[in-house]
Amino acid sequence: MLNKIEGYAAFKDIEDRFNIIKKKTLPLCAAENLISPFVKLPLNGDFQERYIMNGVLDYETDNNFIGSNFLFEIYGLINKQCAKLFDCNYADARTLTGMNCITSLLMSITKAGDKIMVSDSECGGHQSMKVVCKRLGLQIIDMPYDYNHFDMDYENVYSVLKKDDINFFLYAPSDIINPPDFDKLKLPSNTVLLYDASQTLGLIAGKQLDNPLNKIDNCILFGGTHKTLPGPANGLIMTKTMNGPNLLIKQLALYTFVIRKCIKLLVYYTHYLRWRLLESRTQKKQSIMPRDFPMN
Ligand SMILES: Cc1ncc(COP(=O)(O)O)c(C=O)c1O
Repeated sequence: MLNKIEGYAAFKDIEDRFNIIKKKTLPLCAAENLISPFVKLPLNGDFQERYIMNGVLDYETDNNFIGSNFLFEIYGLINKQCAKLFDCNYADARTLTGMNCITSLLMSITKAGDKIMVSDSECGGHQSMKVVCKRLGLQIIDMPYDYNHFDMDYENVYSVLKKDDINFFLYAPSDIINPPDFDKLKLPSNTVLLYDASQTLGLIAGKQLDNPLNKIDNCILFGGTHKTLPGPANGLIMTKTMNGPNLLIKQLALYTFVIRKCIKLLVYYTHYLRWRLLESRTQKKQSIMPRDFPMN
């Protein structure tokens, strides 16, 4: 029956080949971890693809989707659990991945022309961070780095942030083993640390690594949830003592909503295009089907 569904046989073939390779290999990257059946439980439920409009602060039952009050409770539960694991005062799990976290965050709290210090990929930083910052029109300043000790150059980080009056410091360690020494990291009072813990969220939750939320006053901790935190692929954003979290959260709600709507529109449009393509093909002749595109 399933094989009659267009594309299913092709999908199954790809999945089978993928599973054969997976069985024979030893994944060593945090992003390749195994997700347990327990972790996958919520993915099978109706909540999985739902969200509420306006986030939690401006939540109104009347102008929302049916059942949004139940999701509101789920958001509350997420906040409660994250408070235990990460000592945060606010947790937001509506973004879709680690990259989606930072894109939504930057769109929420920065404006074009703002200065941002970024950990470059040469110092183990994630390679896409600067691309996103650049695309959003931010002025990028490289994080001073101490190549002898494979660590940030703490003194120069402070003096450059202070001298250039930089409000944002995006630290996104991807290809580096040592965590920063938060006792050495001093930031000017107007600088917010955006700490991307995509690789280390599980280690922070398990108290194996220092939690930046407990060490740095103005800090937003965020990351993808499918690496050392072995959850389904999603994004998690948390704050503790951030100035003006309300503004951040409200704006984040707006951008998350817009991004989700855009993704949905894109999916609908793809379906529409495919339908138009199929329709025009059936009107012509079956023989014009590309040979390597089985349409069983
Ligand atoms: C520091 C950092 N940020 C973001 C990402 C991307 O996360 P995601 O795959 O959840 O978008 C990675 C992935 O390797 C990462 O190491």
